Amino acid sequence: MSEIQSIGVVGAGQMGNGIAQVSSLAGYSVTLTDISEAALAKGMASVEKNLGRMVRKERITEAEAQSALSRIGTSVELASLAETQLVIEAATERVELKYKIFEQLSAATSSETLLASNTSSISITAIGAHTDRPDKVMGMHFMNPVPVMKLVELIRGLATSQETWDSVEAAAQRMGKTTVEGRDMPGFIVNRVLMPYINEAVFALYEGIASVEDIDTAMKLGTNVPMGPLTLADFIGLDTCLAIMEVLHQGMGGDSKYRPCPLLRKYVEAGWLGRKTGRGFYTYPAK
Ligand code: CAA
Repeated sequence: MSEIQSIGVVGAGQMGNGIAQVSSLAGYSVTLTDISEAALAKGMASVEKNLGRMVRKERITEAEAQSALSRIGTSVELASLAETQLVIEAATERVELKYKIFEQLSAATSSETLLASNTSSISITAIGAHTDRPDKVMGMHFMNPVPVMKLVELIRGLATSQETWDSVEAAAQRMGKTTVEGRDMPGFIVNRVLMPYINEAVFALYEGIASVEDIDTAMKLGTNVPMGPLTLADFIGLDTCLAIMEVLHQGMGGDSKYRPCPLLRKYVEAGWLGRKTGRGFYTYPAK
């Protein structure tokens, strides 16, 4: 297969707009899609803001920022991705939604289009089985914030071909990312390790071992991580953390090691989802 030149991104949220940004900065022609014009406008505003910040920090020139912006088109129709060589799906982390999007992508795109998912924990093999081309489907898991974090986790489904793997790996590297290969098992590498750690921090709070602040200070200063686990949970979104814990718990046959902490569930029930709702383990000023 020839080198990828065009990339479609499904979902203009925090992950999707970050992926669109790093793709356009790498020189790809990008089409960003979402279900509403309002979501697209919000996503593009975030790309503009981040590119502006890079210009102010003299990482890129104003001309490079403008050129990157001009390479991103937007659409509310998946049909606009018909001739795109690689589509990266970054929709909400819900199994049924992902399956539906991949069924729609099968119909909307050329049979040659490679389909990648930014899922953080859902089976790539199962996603592939909801398409007409499981050999052209794989996992491409970016970290948040996408423009800053250097890693992309690549995941091979049972049917993923080597050709697909090579093309997607090359695209991630052209975006300046370091790649690692994880097996298609719940949580892959990062979330298999990170989420039980965050969940355990919530258990420590639930059991009254320490306060929110002290748990974070202990881990931040005691293990030299940039954010304590509860700050990081708020940053990721408590609903996302819970969804990933559910996937781990179910996918590992109900192993109690992965039981989501009841307090995490309570926060999600309350709508205290972290930074994005202004309240999680901490409270945040309205944006
Ligand atoms: N978009 C773009 N750039 C951003 C950004 C954003 N949302 N947030 C921060 N930055 C940039 C800043 O501009 C700054 O750039 P320079 O180095 O060029 O100056 C740099 O990142 C550092 O930012 P700040 O100085 O404002 O703040 P900080 O030093 O506190 O860093 C952070 C912020 C990068 C988010 C840092 O706290 C961090 O690395 N936290 C951990 C993040 C993490 O673990 N992410 C992975 C989450 S897990 C995941 O994503 C997978 C999953 O499936 C759940």
